[in-house]
Amino acid sequence: MKVESKALSYQKCNALILKLIASTLAVGFAFRLFFNFSADFPPEFPSDLEKTAVPESLPPAAAVLPQSAADFNVSDNVSNDLMPLQEKCDLFTGDWIPDPSGPMYTNESCHLIENHQNCMKNGRPDSGYLYWRWSPRNCELPQFDAEKFLEMMKSKSWALIGDSISRNHVQSLLCILSKVDKPVEVYHDKEYKSRRWHFPSYNFTVSVIWSPFLVEAAIFEDMNGVSTSEIELHLDRLDKKWTGQYQSFDYIVFSTGKWFLKTAIYYENNVILGCHYCPKKNLTELGSEFAYRKSIRSVLNFISTSHHKGLIFFRTSTPDHFEGGEWFNGGACNRTSPFKEGETELKDLHKLLRRIEIEEFEKAVTKASENGVNLKLLDITQLSLLRPDGHPGPYRFLHPFAKDRNAQILNDCLHWCLPGPIDSWNDVIMEMVVNG
Ligand SMILES: *[C@@H]1O[C@H](CO)[C@@H](O)[C@H](O)[C@H]1NC(C)=O
Ligand SMILES: *[C@@H]1O[C@H](CO)[C@@H](O)[C@H](O)[C@H]1NC(C)=O
Ligand SMILES: *[C@@H]1O[C@H](CO)[C@@H](O)[C@H](O)[C@H]1NC(C)=O
Ligand SMILES: *[C@@H]1O[C@H](CO)[C@@H](O)[C@H](O)[C@H]1NC(C)=O
Ligand SMILES: *[C@@H]1O[C@H](CO)[C@@H](O)[C@H](O)[C@H]1NC(C)=O
Ligand SMILES: *[C@@H]1O[C@H](CO)[C@@H](O)[C@H](O)[C@H]1NC(C)=O
Repeated sequence: MKVESKALSYQKCNALILKLIASTLAVGFAFRLFFNFSADFPPEFPSDLEKTAVPESLPPAAAVLPQSAADFNVSDNVSNDLMPLQEKCDLFTGDWIPDPSGPMYTNESCHLIENHQNCMKNGRPDSGYLYWRWSPRNCELPQFDAEKFLEMMKSKSWALIGDSISRNHVQSLLCILSKVDKPVEVYHDKEYKSRRWHFPSYNFTVSVIWSPFLVEAAIFEDMNGVSTSEIELHLDRLDKKWTGQYQSFDYIVFSTGKWFLKTAIYYENNVILGCHYCPKKNLTELGSEFAYRKSIRSVLNFISTSHHKGLIFFRTSTPDHFEGGEWFNGGACNRTSPFKEGETELKDLHKLLRRIEIEEFEKAVTKASENGVNLKLLDITQLSLLRPDGHPGPYRFLHPFAKDRNAQILNDCLHWCLPGPIDSWNDVIMEMVVNG
């Protein structure tokens, strides 16, 4: 597994932290708005979908293929590498290659896509972003096989635990599987944030659990996202929303991320340690990276000592692709094809979060294996970074330019269109489940 150099120099690290504090001060308020805007959308599930339209709404593949495979340098530079190719297979390093076969589902075949991510329905004009698949550099990654997967999952259960990206992810999985068996919703909470589906023919259950911090958090926001007080975050106490059910799942995908950038007061052992962006309070500014590391450590510590008998993925966080600004000041993501390796870089803030994720995972995985816990890193950061073209952008909203071609629309360059690049996460997961 490719792990970023841990040897960030002390100086560079300090510079990063300063930058981080500065940038989070600047966007602290903005992020609050953004997460109210993007992470907590109301549960608008289409109930009156027409099934009369032509089933295939995609243009012929050849017409939309943005590039030919010949444009890619698939370099196999393994000169430094003494290991055989097979062992070297790193699912997380590779390229997006053209895939004329297109996505496994569409807005017509799957009715579980949330409106905000239903880019096809919302009128996104280009469709080239649908014709790529992730290809790890030194190995074959077969396309997700829904029937084989469901066969393997007879009477098993999955849970995806995290924030709105986990919800985005679960919809991708459900849409892919619904080609074989239609999931039936068997539970949802009041706000449709935590939900559970059952695949009757396979007695297979998939849950998504809303726990944006994974640790215990008191969030004082109403349905419109108006916050009346800072979030109170207990860095050493896990969110009971998932701990109570933890042992009942055979497979779990944990993840967290951007919520840690919000204004919050940090507790440990019920005592206030400090806060992040609370200038009006006389508290020590600890920075979100402090809370991120402590919280992830608490979660991974619980997992690695849990004697869980299934398979647990720790998913790294996903990068956003706002360019030319952030979401609130005109940032956009209007690219229509993937980056190639080296054409882009993680933003500093995300680099820092990722470094914490990797470092804490590495520590936990040793302990986990000593305890017989099967813990794996689902390192989708880099492959997702290469897909600036996969976000809804303005097509978070239905026909955003119908009335005014020049309308100023808020862009969503964080969540992913469905179908879209996030579908490939499931290819990787399936490979890890089948061959891991
Ligand atoms: C592929 O590699 C060659 C030589 O290293 C380089 O000149 C070329 O620009 C590369 N092409 C792409 C698409 O990166
Ligand atoms: C392969 O990698 C080595 C070391 O990273 C480098 O010196 C060499 O130029 C590379 N060769 C090619 C063909 O890219
Ligand atoms: C699916 O998207 C197409 C546009 O690509 C649209 O015409 C159609 O109405 C959508 N269907 C549903 C069921 O949302
Ligand atoms: C369905 O799966 C659950 C575990 O997820 C198991 O307890 C139950 O016995 C299964 N039911 C049938 C009919 O196989
Ligand atoms: C802020 O806290 C420090 C130490 O806890 C204390 O000495 C100082 O008086 C406080 N300042 C205000 C304005 O409350
Ligand atoms: C794409 O977004 C950039 C800002 O990042 C903007 O300047 C440009 O006009 C946009 N292009 C189109 C075609 O919308």
